[in-house]
Amino acid sequence: MPSTRILKADPNQPDPEVIAEAAQILRGGGLVAFATETVYGLGADATNPEAVARIFAAKGRPSTNPLIVHVADRVSAQDCVMIWPDQAEILAEQFWPGPLTLVLPRSRHIPDIVTAGQNTVGVRVPRLDVARWLILEAGRPIAAPSANRSLGVSPTLAQHVLADLDGKVDLILDSGPTTVGIESTVLDLSSDLPTVLRPGEITMEQIAEVLGETVVSLGHAAEPAKSPGQMDVHYAPRTRAYRVERDNLPKSPIIGQFAVLAIGGLPEGWNGPGNSFTSHGRLFVTFKPIYASRLLYFWLRELDLLGLDYLIVVAPPDEPRWRAIRDRIWRATRPW
Ligand code: TXA
Ligand code: MG
Repeated sequence: MPSTRILKADPNQPDPEVIAEAAQILRGGGLVAFATETVYGLGADATNPEAVARIFAAKGRPSTNPLIVHVADRVSAQDCVMIWPDQAEILAEQFWPGPLTLVLPRSRHIPDIVTAGQNTVGVRVPRLDVARWLILEAGRPIAAPSANRSLGVSPTLAQHVLADLDGKVDLILDSGPTTVGIESTVLDLSSDLPTVLRPGEITMEQIAEVLGETVVSLGHAAEPAKSPGQMDVHYAPRTRAYRVERDNLPKSPIIGQFAVLAIGGLPEGWNGPGNSFTSHGRLFVTFKPIYASRLLYFWLRELDLLGLDYLIVVAPPDEPRWRAIRDRIWRATRPW
């Protein structure tokens, strides 16, 4: 592949000519990276096995890890699956377009390579117009994992995609920073109980309330075979990254160059920049889940460029509204 092109595309009102050009690349079996409300995706025609193979090659992704299929609306989602249970109808009505992926038995329109041979497929309708218009214009479902190198941090800016995949993707649509900032909730509706395979902005409590039934969650990094993307180490920056619980901060001074990300606010008993913990570290603080999720990957990626000795993430409280962010922190870091 010669080189990667970048075109600006407004997230809510993209230029139709830009969309037409991107859609043509997809129809021709090429790769286009585009913004969704969560993170940038690396898209290919989901019905074209050779195009999908290019996704795996570009990312260095193991062929055992299935891809999410993105569609423009509920009717197109139904074409990708064999059965459409009432639960799917209710959740789609409530949360689509939005950051919820539904795992259902797949239809014959979806080739093996997309689902890594599994008999289920993950489908979702992304919220940003740029994504939905692109899918509509391409006229087919679009397989799209996060547009990063396998096991790296998901991209929330077009520049992140370029840094990881320059020369490996035909076109990047630059729609600015994504707003949710972490990946969609993945919900398995193919087993006995609705099961959250990956927590996200839409919580299991919200899902349970809308469905009026019990929803379970895979424990942290449990059953990796069920959702192969949920391997323990994932989303990791190159810099050694450690997590600390806010009620158990390091007691002794930390040597070297580091940055502290205090997610969920400064921990109690924090004495400001004078304490041994932060006397010579850079400090980044965020208080609310929506901003924490928007900034987490951005910070991890930008700080990774500084060549620090470590990154230290102060974890947010163990509460439902922080669950998805704690999950991503756990995958990006090791305990101090
Ligand atoms: O927000 C998102 O979901 C982003 C944007 C681009 O839509 N996409 C994304 O894709 O995060 P990816 O491939 O990075 O993560 C997909 C996750 C993986 O953990 C994968 O194992 C799981 O979803 N998954 C996909 N299809 C599945 C299936 N049929 N059964 C179980 N897990 C599945
Ligand atoms: Mg990913």
